[in-house]
Amino acid sequence: MAAPVLVIYDSGSGNTSRMAEAVADGIRAGGREVLVKKAEAVEVSDLQEAPAFAVGSPTYFSNVCWSVKKVIDESIALYGEGGGYALRGRPCAVFTSSGSERDARDCLRMLELAFGLHHQMEVLPGVIRVNGQAEEEVTQRCRDLGESLAGKLRA
Ligand SMILES: Cc1cc2nc3c(=O)[nH]c(=O)nc-3n(C[C@H](O)[C@H](O)[C@H](O)COP(=O)(O)O)c2cc1C
Repeated sequence: MAAPVLVIYDSGSGNTSRMAEAVADGIRAGGREVLVKKAEAVEVSDLQEAPAFAVGSPTYFSNVCWSVKKVIDESIALYGEGGGYALRGRPCAVFTSSGSERDARDCLRMLELAFGLHHQMEVLPGVIRVNGQAEEEVTQRCRDLGESLAGKLRA
């Protein structure tokens, strides 16, 4: 059986957590098994084994939160020649919840740089949730993102 798609997230007040669940629902709707893990518990081997993954963080000071940065920093083991370019070409989805659109864009950019520019993964256009937005609309966009991620594995 194919390895599950990994959904990595952290959340202080529940918003990114709800987004992660919706992304996971979308991945299942796309026909793939999912493993949802809080960033703190993610190990390099989880990244290595996943055929694709989604990463979500609350926007903290225009950046990702510490546990998501921990995942990024530990992924150095899979980076470049030393890491065998292990993540290159794999699909990746990114999402964030924020108080403002502007700061969310910066946070999403951090994820895109780490996984797209540096690891050379195929990063899909991400989802931003801004506090106060209609939840149903955000949930739908997250589901669509998950479904697109699963779809990349069929392509
Ligand atoms: C430590 C901390 C830093 C934050 N920094 C920002 C920020 O730079 N810009 C912003 O718009 N919102 C900021 N926020 C608001 C959160 O991004 C926002 O409430 C988000 O929805 C939280 O997601 P969560 O419920 O998954 O924790 C911050 C919140 C906290 C607790």
